[in-house]
Amino acid sequence: MKKEINFVLNGNSVSIEVEPNEKLLDVLRDKVGVKSPKYGCGRGECGSCTVLLNGKSIRSCITLAIEVDGQEITTLEGLQKDGITPLQKSFIEHNAFQCGFCAPGMTMTATELLNKDPHPDEEEIREAIAGNLCRCTGYDTIVKAILDVAEKK
Ligand code: FES
Ligand code: FES
Repeated sequence: MKKEINFVLNGNSVSIEVEPNEKLLDVLRDKVGVKSPKYGCGRGECGSCTVLLNGKSIRSCITLAIEVDGQEITTLEGLQKDGITPLQKSFIEHNAFQCGFCAPGMTMTATELLNKDPHPDEEEIREAIAGNLCRCTGYDTIVKAILDVAEKK
């Protein structure tokens, strides 16, 4: 039986009916039209579906939509509401991504890290993004871009 949930998405209130077993990723992409979280593995292993729940990164492919009732979700669309962030600028300057499929999830994870600790070192950055898989880059450009922001902050 469907249930109505209410949550704040990127600063806006959302009220929507969902099935009890519906995944947050599907609701965001297919019902709300927020396309930055990507479906990769669907099992919580690749990080491409990462969004922030009350500022903490979660895998939206293994989170039930009903679990976010009354809470706050941020996606890439929310981060860049007022223009691209210094982190995104750094990703561009370092040509950090190739195909870009991992970029939204990676950006959310790196944002969480920098919010928690504005000056992480390389090891801490690599550890933080370890759950976000990138098939293209070998991670060095991504790490350098995050490190650059961390050193400038
Ligand atoms: S699609 Fe969610 S972790 Fe891979
Ligand atoms: S840039 Fe292609 S998966 Fe990361």
